[in-house]
Amino acid sequence: MSVPIYPGRGTGRTSLVTGGAGFVGSHLVEHLLDLGDEVVVLDDLSTGSARNLAGVADNPRLTMIHGSILNPTTVGQAMRSCDRVFHLAAAVGVKLIVEQPLRGLRINIHGTENVLTAAIEHQASVLLVSTSEVYGKNTADRLREDSDRVLGDPLLSRWTYAGAKGIDEAFAKAYCDQEGLDVSIVRLFNTVGPRQTGRYGMVLPNLVGQALRNQPLTVFGDGRQTRCFSAVEDVVPAMVAIERDPRARGEAYNLGGAREISILDLAHEIIRTLDSRSTVELVPYERAYAPGFEDMRRRVPDNTKAHALVGYEPHTSLTSTIMRVAADLLSRERLGSDAMPLAGAATFRGVV
Ligand SMILES: NC(=O)c1ccc[n+]([C@@H]2O[C@H](COP(=O)([O-])OP(=O)(O)OC[C@H]3O[C@@H](n4cnc5c(N)ncnc54)[C@H](O)[C@@H]3O)[C@@H](O)[C@H]2O)c1
Repeated sequence: MSVPIYPGRGTGRTSLVTGGAGFVGSHLVEHLLDLGDEVVVLDDLSTGSARNLAGVADNPRLTMIHGSILNPTTVGQAMRSCDRVFHLAAAVGVKLIVEQPLRGLRINIHGTENVLTAAIEHQASVLLVSTSEVYGKNTADRLREDSDRVLGDPLLSRWTYAGAKGIDEAFAKAYCDQEGLDVSIVRLFNTVGPRQTGRYGMVLPNLVGQALRNQPLTVFGDGRQTRCFSAVEDVVPAMVAIERDPRARGEAYNLGGAREISILDLAHEIIRTLDSRSTVELVPYERAYAPGFEDMRRRVPDNTKAHALVGYEPHTSLTSTIMRVAADLLSRERLGSDAMPLAGAATFRGVV
């Protein structure tokens, strides 16, 4: 699998990755180590896992700190020797946010402000990792970075993630304009790949896990809601390239996939790819979450801005991502660390 090469690789810098033991964070840590960075990871292991970094745990340029971004002292200590910060630590996942909105708000707002203020104190640059959720229910054909936000009732916990991430972005911009913080922002659109867990409501690993078990694939609503999935190996190098580009200061960039697909079609594609005997079961949102749950019907990125800046182009196929996610779930099962056993799993072509 080819990885996009951006000009000027090889940094020799010291990077702090908050949330570095998580899904996206662990891929980023590996990439930064490959580039020659010293890397410090700060993670409370709430949804992440040290096992995600098992492949690089022995690297002498990696330091792992078990702690929370909610503790300003810990954040300051983690940042002491760093000249740049990739801020990914967050309460993530619709299920987690709906179940624990207060925790999500605290981590995603107070935790982020701790990281931004420490970065000013330590004169470190920041890449703030935000989300396409900030666009809310805007179903525009292609969402540009300056597209309107269309959010539901703020009293619905479902919108607290989008609300908090929007405030994070506003904080970042204000610290940039008023305090001189060197910060840029990326908005990820359904990033997928190995090590993403389905435990907190992420659709692709959930459906792949069900297909491997030959269980019905549970698709919420009528399944006609669409998303553009992007592969983590396409997104991570672009994050690093954006962080290091001075033109990105104070700006936000979409990083999404190129292919729009409904969740129903995704489920069928997973079944086909994995040669599974599963069927598809439509589950009303009210049963999956709570009465009144609102979802986005459509979320399509316009990636032009990131393409113009760093040449970002998503090129990994969804089929290859499905196969890699399946292989990852099966290997975790072999290691006995997956939440749901895959016994009786479908065999599928090309992996295992
Ligand atoms: N994966 C996606 O599709 C996607 C889409 C949009 C945005 N994002 C953003 O990307 C970032 C990474 O998400 P991910 O998908 O890898 O999820 P993840 O849950 O795997 O990663 C989040 C990490 O943050 C850590 N964390 C949580 N609270 C913390 C705290 N208080 N202190 C320290 N660490 C803490 C978790 O243990 C975990 O390792 C998040 O900021 C998320 O909002 C992800």
